Amino acid sequence: MHAEIVVLPGDGIGPEVTAAAVEVLRAVGYRYGHTFSFDTQLIGGAAIDATGEALPAATLAAAKRADAILLGAVGGPKWSDPKAPVRPEQGLLAIRKALGLYANLRPVTPHPAALGASPIKPHLLTGVDLVVVRELTGGIYFGDKTRDGDSASDLCRYSVTEIERVVRRAAALARSRRGRLTSVDKANVLETSRLWRETATRIVAEEFPDIQLEHQLVDSMAMHLLSRPREYDVIVTENMFGDILTDEASMLAGSLGLLPSASLGDTDGSGRIMGLYEPIHGSAPDIAGRGVANPYATILSAALLLRHSLGLADEAECVEKAVAAALDAGVFTADIAGSGGGVGSRQATDAVIEQLQLECRPVM
Ligand code: NAD
Ligand code: IPM
Ligand code: MN
Repeated sequence: MHAEIVVLPGDGIGPEVTAAAVEVLRAVGYRYGHTFSFDTQLIGGAAIDATGEALPAATLAAAKRADAILLGAVGGPKWSDPKAPVRPEQGLLAIRKALGLYANLRPVTPHPAALGASPIKPHLLTGVDLVVVRELTGGIYFGDKTRDGDSASDLCRYSVTEIERVVRRAAALARSRRGRLTSVDKANVLETSRLWRETATRIVAEEFPDIQLEHQLVDSMAMHLLSRPREYDVIVTENMFGDILTDEASMLAGSLGLLPSASLGDTDGSGRIMGLYEPIHGSAPDIAGRGVANPYATILSAALLLRHSLGLADEAECVEKAVAAALDAGVFTADIAGSGGGVGSRQATDAVIEQLQLECRPVM
């Protein structure tokens, strides 16, 4: 097949990790006889520097035309002045909103060879296999923001429709897995959470009676996620809770540098799903430009791109197996190697590409 992929490197380690994932996609394309074309566009701080805007119109237009979008990360100290008129992060929020990417899937599957990288005891991590479905285009991120003298306000708003569609997506995912759905909210305090809980309960009862639904308050969820992570299958939650819980969940896998994500919209008339794929981590300004960033999260995001946007399930699995094999072989970047050791991004990427040759079927 032929696919057009828009690449948005962004800032900090974004260009380093997207370059790694593009190399892996090229290698997969070669082995399976696909041609992927890559169109690199500006977003975030890099876009502000070049155009004054965090999401230039040309970037959005290219993204809308593309078969899929691969993104690195945005932001950094250069653009973090609280008084700055425009911020890199606005570009990311704007593209998610403009493309209707309301469901952000963040799978967490600690790899057996990297259990030592996690601060959690290994016996709690074996068999952990969960997916957080984070609502991505609503809630406090997108409500009215005001600053009035000595006070400020961020409005958190959710509509029934916004909750219904993400809960449906999560429940359908649970149905294809172990049939368990945990909806996370703060219904003991927040009105939006009471609406969330009521809606989740109704949608599951009406449309997914075979799914086992439980509700969990976000504060105790933050604790249970570390004390009994194996018990979770699919977790669905609002935008900000999902952001925080998944950075926490990255510690089950051992590093932020291991967690991929897929931000998905609805399927269009031709059966195509709009998708943006990015690691859950940020631009990591503290290590940017040194060639030491862990590329696995972005490479695994490219695997999700192959699966969800291009319908290439075998190819996706091949990339996932290649990353797993690289980890099995002990190819660890500094974030997972510990005690000052570890290889650079280059060696980690090469290891994945080498493993691809072994894990994927050869070119016919
Ligand atoms: P961060 O995720 O960038 O970094 C947190 C810590 O994890 C740092 O110590 C970093 O070095 C480490 N880390 C992250 N990714 C890594 C990788 N692939 N390999 C090795 N180590 C890695 O979070 P932060 O420092 O809070 O934020 C920095 C900037 O990134 C901010 O401007 C923030 O807004 C932005 N950010 C962007 C995104 C995104 O574009 N999706 C996500 C999160 C944060
Ligand atoms: C993420 C990031 C973003 C978010 C920021 C950079 C806007 O933290 O993708 O997790 O909060 O959604
Ligand atoms: Mn985040």
